[in-house]
Amino acid sequence: MFDATKKLSGGDLKFLNRARNLTILEMCFEGAPLVVLFFVLKDLFNDSLSIEKILLLTLFLVVAFIFRWISALYAYIDNSTSGVELTCSTRVKLGERLRKLPMGFFARQDIGELNHTVLFDVEKVEYVITHIYSKLIGCIVLSTITAIFLLFIDWRLGLAMVVAVPIALPMLLWAEKTVAARTDRVLDAQENTTSQVLEYLMGMKVIKSFNQIGEKFRRLDGSMRKLKDASIKLEFGVGRGVVSYSAILEVGFVFLILLGTYLTFDGALKTEIFLIFLVISLHFYAPLRAIGTFFPELRYMEKAGGRVNKVLEETPLPEPEEDTELEKYDIEFHNVSFSYKKTHVLKNVSFKAPEQSITALVGASGSGKTTITNLIARFWDVDSGEVIIGGKNVKDMKTDTLLSYISMVFQDVYLFNDTIFNNIKIGKKDATREEVINAAKTARCHEFIEKLPDGYDTMVGEGGATLSGGEKQRISIARAILKDTPIVLLDEATAFLDPENEKHVQEAIDELVKSKTLIIIAHRLSTIVGADQILVLENGELTEQGKHEELIKNDRFYSRLWKERQRARGWKITKVQ
Ligand SMILES: Nc1ncnc2c1ncn2[C@@H]1O[C@H](COP(=O)(O)OP(=O)(O)OP(=O)(O)O)[C@@H](O)[C@H]1O
Ligand SMILES: [Mg+2]
Repeated sequence: MFDATKKLSGGDLKFLNRARNLTILEMCFEGAPLVVLFFVLKDLFNDSLSIEKILLLTLFLVVAFIFRWISALYAYIDNSTSGVELTCSTRVKLGERLRKLPMGFFARQDIGELNHTVLFDVEKVEYVITHIYSKLIGCIVLSTITAIFLLFIDWRLGLAMVVAVPIALPMLLWAEKTVAARTDRVLDAQENTTSQVLEYLMGMKVIKSFNQIGEKFRRLDGSMRKLKDASIKLEFGVGRGVVSYSAILEVGFVFLILLGTYLTFDGALKTEIFLIFLVISLHFYAPLRAIGTFFPELRYMEKAGGRVNKVLEETPLPEPEEDTELEKYDIEFHNVSFSYKKTHVLKNVSFKAPEQSITALVGASGSGKTTITNLIARFWDVDSGEVIIGGKNVKDMKTDTLLSYISMVFQDVYLFNDTIFNNIKIGKKDATREEVINAAKTARCHEFIEKLPDGYDTMVGEGGATLSGGEKQRISIARAILKDTPIVLLDEATAFLDPENEKHVQEAIDELVKSKTLIIIAHRLSTIVGADQILVLENGELTEQGKHEELIKNDRFYSRLWKERQRARGWKITKVQ
């Protein structure tokens, strides 16, 4: 039953074993009052209770209480620490694994669902380990000790008391089977609801602007209803088994009373023994009934743990045993073909971007420009061909090493829900405040940051919701300036900026790319014209390659694009005038 949890803990359940042993000890001491009760009642009935005996029993109780308190405290500490430690190490492992997975995994996997696994499934494992596991062990031990004790006192009543257990247990296994069968549906529905809530909140702007509140809310509402239905079905199934289990135990108690009364009337059993039995047997049935509610939780935990393991078992991008350091930073594509799913995105692409040169990628939307930068950073592996940097295949480098040579400015800038300072510092973990400010100044963002209420310590909303597009771009350029790598991959988004912002962003880019190998996905004519070489992509194929002056002479895609843009620019100027 503990397979998934064992796997999560790397096969080592030592942490749980110590807590379990302490709980067993605790329960042994918890049984002490029962022993005292037995002797007190017996002596009371026989009129043989003396002060010395009372003192001795009291001393025994106090010692047992102290030992019980100590073992309970350490069992609790052990359980909580182990639960929290397992959660923490699992989340760190998840973080590590996710970092090493190809981006294809994230394209396949719904982020809301992944979020649910990382947060809630891991938490479920923690909850059961911290709060349920030792209680369950404790209940089993306490009822076993009580049963053995009572069997010694009177084996006939003892047998009558335990006879219900083998009849009740199949009900519990039935409940557990139901959990096994129905939990996946509940967990799926929970994941889906988390995902819908995330989408609803993150897409609020789009939802509002397209008047889709009703439609989106209906989807959210629908997923919540599905979750409700799946949960009710699960609870009903579990309840059926657990309630039947408890009922059979109750019947066992009634059987005990009937047999005890019969034997007492028959003179085969002393009244005091019968009374003692009745009182003490409550300590047999109560923990057994509690087991009924704890047991299915273990199965639930296993299912949640299994989901976490599934993410941990995803195959990361293969990494070489030996790392390779680079001395040169030119980039080469040799006959690279690539597809995200089945449709080919890049077909036999070959080019060379010499060190410290500017290569502009030009092409229609969807032609594969961003894909080229994704392959240079090895977010995906190529289907065929090779991506070579400084003479070394990117597959022969450890991912961390490769990424330490590359700065990326993405088309869509993502800022974390943190201060501006920390958002820039991502570029260099150990950067000083001065270095961050200098990078911000070079990226032309210092001025607008200074005007913010808390300057560099201003929090930006998640995704950078509180900043303009141009400001976000410049912050992402500041990150790259701070990282100061020999290769820069820049997905230009300046086409959407106002002239003032565009000027600032251009200045920032100029600072960033000094003496770097730059691959720039260019939308603006000035960037394209100034490039050392232009690569024209059409439907994933490299159709033209050369400098602006050369390409302009051909009557092909580039020269047509150039003429079109010129016309558009002329049209804009005429309009403004
Ligand atoms: N993660 C992904 N999963 C599946 N298909 C993708 C993925 N990313 C991109 N594509 C598809 O691959 C093709 C090339 O995409 P790419 O992002 O490289 O285009 P692009 O030239 O950068 O376009 P744009 O100028 O609009 O940014 C497109 O058809 C796109 O739909
Ligand atoms: Mg793109």
